Amino acid sequence: MIQKRVVTTLLQSFVPMDKNQIAALLEPPPQLALGDLAFPCFALAKSMRKSPAAIAVDIAEQINSLGRSGIHAQAAGAYLNFYLDRKEYGSLLLDVILQEHFGQSQIGNGIRIIIDMSSPNIAKPFGIGHLRSTVIGGALYRMYTALGYEAVRVNHLGDWGTQFGKMIAAYKRWGNADQLQSLTIKQCLDLYVKFHDEAEAEPELEIEARHWFLKLEQGDEEAHKLWQFFVSISLEEFERMYRQLDVKFDHYLGESFYNDKMDAVVQELRTHSLLEESDGALVVRLDEHNIPPCLILKSDGTTIYPTRDLATAIYRYDTMRGDRLLYVVGNEQTLHFNQVFSVLNKMGRAWSKECEHVSFGLMKFEGKKMSTRRGKVIFLEEVLSEAIEHAKAIIEQKNPDLSDKDNVAEAVGIGAILFGDLKNNRMNEVNFSMEDALNFDGETGPYVQYTYARTQSVLSKGNMAHVELLEIPTEGLHVLESDAAWDLINELANYPAVLQKGTEKNEPSIIARYLLLVCRKFNLFYHEERILVDDESIRTIKLQITCATGKVLKLGLNLLGIQSPEQM
Ligand code: ARG
Repeated sequence: MIQKRVVTTLLQSFVPMDKNQIAALLEPPPQLALGDLAFPCFALAKSMRKSPAAIAVDIAEQINSLGRSGIHAQAAGAYLNFYLDRKEYGSLLLDVILQEHFGQSQIGNGIRIIIDMSSPNIAKPFGIGHLRSTVIGGALYRMYTALGYEAVRVNHLGDWGTQFGKMIAAYKRWGNADQLQSLTIKQCLDLYVKFHDEAEAEPELEIEARHWFLKLEQGDEEAHKLWQFFVSISLEEFERMYRQLDVKFDHYLGESFYNDKMDAVVQELRTHSLLEESDGALVVRLDEHNIPPCLILKSDGTTIYPTRDLATAIYRYDTMRGDRLLYVVGNEQTLHFNQVFSVLNKMGRAWSKECEHVSFGLMKFEGKKMSTRRGKVIFLEEVLSEAIEHAKAIIEQKNPDLSDKDNVAEAVGIGAILFGDLKNNRMNEVNFSMEDALNFDGETGPYVQYTYARTQSVLSKGNMAHVELLEIPTEGLHVLESDAAWDLINELANYPAVLQKGTEKNEPSIIARYLLLVCRKFNLFYHEERILVDDESIRTIKLQITCATGKVLKLGLNLLGIQSPEQM
């Protein structure tokens, strides 16, 4: 709104540019004292044959001489700084933020975005990369949905592959056939680990495993039954964690789903003469992309991970009618996705440019990498419950009379973990520390939640129901003139633009960082201005600012999958 006003003003003063060119140049000044938006005049020097500083002085004079209300221009070196009338614009912005549907839009226009997220491997441990994928993918889903895209969450379970041969072989060797139904995930993991330990000394085992996988691929009844059992027991385990993190999926379509869809892909590659032999295997060469060939069929004729991803992408585009395909997967798979997308392109699928690997870096816990093959699910559950316990202890100390301590502790503990992940640029390596993540005064989820709870407590003490529905009182407008209030309102009004930028870059950290900024600005306002004053107009408008803040914080936390308790 402010930007629009500045652009119109510049157009009216005959700046020789169109509105998009002007908008692209406008920037927020480094400090509030320098105005609300700045226009650098360098680009005009050539066409206007004057120094940028002289141009700034001229335009400022022209604008101010027109005597328009609400806006004032001032030259500062090569910059033209604009100051807006805080009462006029502050109330306009506040009004917009308080409207019911603020922050939602339809710019996505129903474009269907398929998000491949979480995608752990059955009968293998749920790793930290799967956790990050779940958390980042969930945030992207909500961000796109808020903008009117049709986002679809798919869990591409790793439910096929040689590990099932190993599981079955191990089970046949050391498992107890009568106890199949009561086998726990822990015992399954133990079997898997035992297989790897023993196979070192006894290579026979690997042959047994290959044999079982072959039987499975050929549809052997016993192998199939065991496979199904391992899938269901792992799924139960994953779903417990999904429930705790409040993550849902629109589809569970694992790799096995594509078993009958790969022949067509191989056939198509053959018809296009894209397959070449290499050491008995069939590959697609990608020399022109400067990357190694993509393996399609192993020498024993079995398909592998890239073959399944080719069939998957084609299914998602053709059958699920996805307009864009996102893959939220760790950066160790960059080459794999490069290869898959390049092969699709060679197959004449021009839409391969709509496929994007949304990659992310590693996460370490207290400096340690989780590398043990066993017990990662258990480890993740421990991290979650440790966070909840810590949160509970802090709440116990800060607010012993709180009524709903257990639920709040759960929201805060899990919020701390989610925010501790999502506040980082996704490509960066995350070094997670429990103590930092739970610091109520740090750049943390609990800090944002605490600030939200503060807005709600002020509102309830203010005792004015539905303050967002009241007219903004004219007699209170001077409240909007303080730096703290003006700066806060402008930041709140940025929310839609921030959300849009977050989706453009597939970067939830843009939302997380923004929430921290809003909290800082609200807390400044809170400490500088007494909100609950006697004067009714002033109290109303201050409560409206508080209400607007709470609204934006809650919207933003919700995008990140984090709850906003009313009290903490
Ligand atoms: N299951 C794979 C893994 O754990 C991740 C799958 C990612 N999605 C895909 N379409 N390849 O490494």
